[in-house]
Amino acid sequence: MKRSEADTRCWRPLKMRVVPLFLFLVVTVFIYYSLSFDYSAILPTASDSISAKEILYFPFKSKLTNTDNLTSTIEILSSPKSVLTTISDSASNEKVRPFPTPKAIVTATNDSTLAKKVPPVPSKNSQKTPPVPSKNSQKTPQKIFQYPFNCSIGNQTQTCSEKFPLPFTTDTDDGGKCPDYFRWIHEDLRPWRKTGITMDLVMKARRTANFRLVIVNGKAYVETYGKSFQSRDTFTLWGILQLLRRYPGRLPDLDLMFDCVDWPVILASHYRGPNATIPPPLFRYCGDKWSLDIVFPDWSFWGWSEINIKPWDSLLEELKEGNKRINWMEREPYAYWKGNPIVAETRQDLLKCNVSDKQDWNARVFAQDWLSESQKGYEESNLANQCRHRYKIYIEGSAWSVSDKYILACDSLTLLVKPRYYDFFTRNLVPVQHYWPIRDDDKCRSIKFAVDWGNNHKKKVQEIGKAASSFIQDDLRMDYVYDYMFHLLSEYSKLLKYKPTVPRKAVELCSEVMACREKDGLQKKFMMDSIVKYPSNKSPCSMPSPFNDESLKSFVRKKTNLIKQVETWEKKSQDNHTNIHR
Ligand SMILES: *[C@@H]1O[C@H](CO)[C@@H](O)[C@H](O)[C@H]1NC(C)=O
Ligand SMILES: *[C@@H]1O[C@H](CO)[C@@H](O)[C@H](O)[C@H]1NC(C)=O
Ligand SMILES: *[C@@H]1O[C@H](CO)[C@@H](O)[C@H](O)[C@H]1NC(C)=O
Ligand SMILES: *[C@@H]1O[C@H](CO)[C@@H](O)[C@H](O)[C@H]1NC(C)=O
Ligand SMILES: *[C@@H]1O[C@H](CO)[C@@H](O)[C@H](O)[C@H]1NC(C)=O
Ligand SMILES: *[C@@H]1O[C@H](CO)[C@@H](O)[C@H](O)[C@H]1NC(C)=O
Ligand SMILES: *[C@@H]1O[C@H](CO)[C@@H](O)[C@H](O)[C@H]1NC(C)=O
Repeated sequence: MKRSEADTRCWRPLKMRVVPLFLFLVVTVFIYYSLSFDYSAILPTASDSISAKEILYFPFKSKLTNTDNLTSTIEILSSPKSVLTTISDSASNEKVRPFPTPKAIVTATNDSTLAKKVPPVPSKNSQKTPPVPSKNSQKTPQKIFQYPFNCSIGNQTQTCSEKFPLPFTTDTDDGGKCPDYFRWIHEDLRPWRKTGITMDLVMKARRTANFRLVIVNGKAYVETYGKSFQSRDTFTLWGILQLLRRYPGRLPDLDLMFDCVDWPVILASHYRGPNATIPPPLFRYCGDKWSLDIVFPDWSFWGWSEINIKPWDSLLEELKEGNKRINWMEREPYAYWKGNPIVAETRQDLLKCNVSDKQDWNARVFAQDWLSESQKGYEESNLANQCRHRYKIYIEGSAWSVSDKYILACDSLTLLVKPRYYDFFTRNLVPVQHYWPIRDDDKCRSIKFAVDWGNNHKKKVQEIGKAASSFIQDDLRMDYVYDYMFHLLSEYSKLLKYKPTVPRKAVELCSEVMACREKDGLQKKFMMDSIVKYPSNKSPCSMPSPFNDESLKSFVRKKTNLIKQVETWEKKSQDNHTNIHR
């Protein structure tokens, strides 16, 4: 199989075959990049005030008052965890001095010329507010440090370079507040909040894991236990490597087990009661209310090469454009679904709601034939062209479905067949605010009612559709997906009761090796399309506080009540209907 072959090559252990030529080229590239680097672009102005919260994310605190101890800065940079501790212990209102520029990191000498380029430490009393950076500053980063990346330079395909420095930019902008769904990070980690996580617990999670990921000093190491279905593991690891490029040196050391299979496996019921043991922490893509698996963004955010689903960043733009092409009023007044019905009984049940000579439930459903579509170049499965109906049905497959985000992004009303599973963002969606709930035990009638109701309440329905697509466009853009990963992994790492070390059988992973070793094809293309080119010039957003017992209960109650209300309307309408026909 082409895929697994590529993977094996990718994970191959480091071999000490670093030719001097390679070193020379890497150094040359770096000197080139650092010389052409415009320092003023990334350094905050002297008046930048940085809040206590940001200091937390800043992997060093500037007690450094001059530039002649960069060597220690490098040590600090390569052990972010210890620095995080130091920083959180420190007084809150301290200002940080910008980190020396990438050049400083590369050369790591006490070059006196550097002193001129680093602005003075801002005075404690400077009150001037910093200029507000434009919202798109990240999209036009011409002047920001760019990672050199070229598979034909040096021999990037061979090893992850030991000498590869961690380029670093200062924050010119704080990340703002995280979307509310980040609160669920606290919930997912709650089982270990009191006890912490021991190595023993992590090893217990190995039973079903596809791989173990260890991050030490900002570098990723992977021990593979079993290849996942399709390219799930590859793109998940790719995503984590991109996170490391986005926030170099900021991710604390950690050690985790990841299971790429659909269904959650850590049953909550096994860890309850008087003699309950602590559950093993296991990462996967979805959970349900009976399980304790920790949910993590799925591979499709970086691409699903087997079915030609592009990386989320570009797809999100296309969906936005697609929405402009046909406005809601011009869309077909039916509920649309297209997918693979074979994976779940509930989907086969949905096919019964299709329009026929005898009955019209207002549903237009289609079975996706991936084989024939792959032969036709996937023209008919282009997601951005699927926003043509006023109503779109979401129904789970064998577990949660990655299609949730594509459907919600459509501006149409999402008809959400009662789900069992959640992924990292869906728990925050509210019925009648972001979607319309559909019963799973009476789908056809429920869909018919929703469509009839919607066609009679066009304004309200458009509002709900818009709320969902705004949620997806704003709160689920790639920036936040990375921030979610960042916070989840950071919070998880805080719970570890041991210092992670690189396992004997693990191999180092880096973007260069992974992408350059990939054969030309969709997988490589998606990697190149989703590669993070610049370190972020923003801090990650700041986490919302956890739910307390009362706020969590009231949130769940609110959702339940809204669903009940819709079911009551449905029931009344059916009663009326039967009355008329009596
Ligand atoms: C530089 O840092 C090292 C390691 O932290 C320390 O031992 C040394 O004294 C420092 N030198 C100066 C000049 O501050
Ligand atoms: C670095 O600076 C220190 C003190 O300023 C000086 O003694 C030392 O020679 C310098 N090292 C280099 C490599 O320039
Ligand atoms: C990569 O490097 C090769 C050889 O130096 C050069 O010909 C090519 O244009 C570079 N590609 C990119 C995308 O910079
Ligand atoms: C890069 O590595 C490959 C495989 O080890 C080798 O065949 C090739 O000659 C190397 N190229 C350079 C420029 O070192
Ligand atoms: C819990 O452990 C105690 C002492 O070992 C034992 O007597 C008791 O039966 C256990 N309870 C349960 C529910 O297993
Ligand atoms: C549903 O009905 C439409 C219109 O008759 C038809 O084109 C489509 O193939 C049907 N879907 C399935 C799964 O039978
Ligand atoms: C059902 O019929 C009653 C009386 O005719 C009417 O007031 C009510 O609005 C109807 N309900 C629905 C959901 O159509």
